[in-house]
Amino acid sequence: METLRHIVLFVHLIGFAVLFGAWAAQAFGGKRQITKIMDYGLAIAGVAGLALAAPWGLPDGYELNYVKIGVKLVVLLIIGALLGIGSARQKRGAAVPPAVFWLIGILALLNAGLAVIWR
Ligand code: HEM
Repeated sequence: METLRHIVLFVHLIGFAVLFGAWAAQAFGGKRQITKIMDYGLAIAGVAGLALAAPWGLPDGYELNYVKIGVKLVVLLIIGALLGIGSARQKRGAAVPPAVFWLIGILALLNAGLAVIWR
């Protein structure tokens, strides 16, 4: 079970990499647009994250930090809302507001930072 949990964690990290990688490609040298790949990355990180939020496959005595997990879930929902707002603007032919675009990358990094720094 521990190995399976590590595989789900690996999938979770792939989701983060896909989301942040797609965003970084747009941010630095791209057109600063919202892309479908960002949605896929968020979905992968979200589904795997929810699976990791349940207490299974953990070493004896390991306690999950549910406050941290709750905060990460809220941040994920905000990223999802920003992706929705940004792509709706794009569909109307308008530019993605800079605050919306930059917050997506910052909040993705925030969630990764929370995961590794807040124990
Ligand atoms: C953009 C969204 C997210 C990003 C970038 C992200 C990033 C990460 C990273 C980098 C890790 C590895 C940390 C480590 O192994 O020490 C991790 C672990 C984890 N994440 Fe996420 N995450 C996101 C969303 C979520 C969501 C929505 C949930 C749950 C509702 C979640 C639950 C977890 C759990 C339970 C772990 C394992 C932590 C532990 O064993 O202490 N994550 N996340």
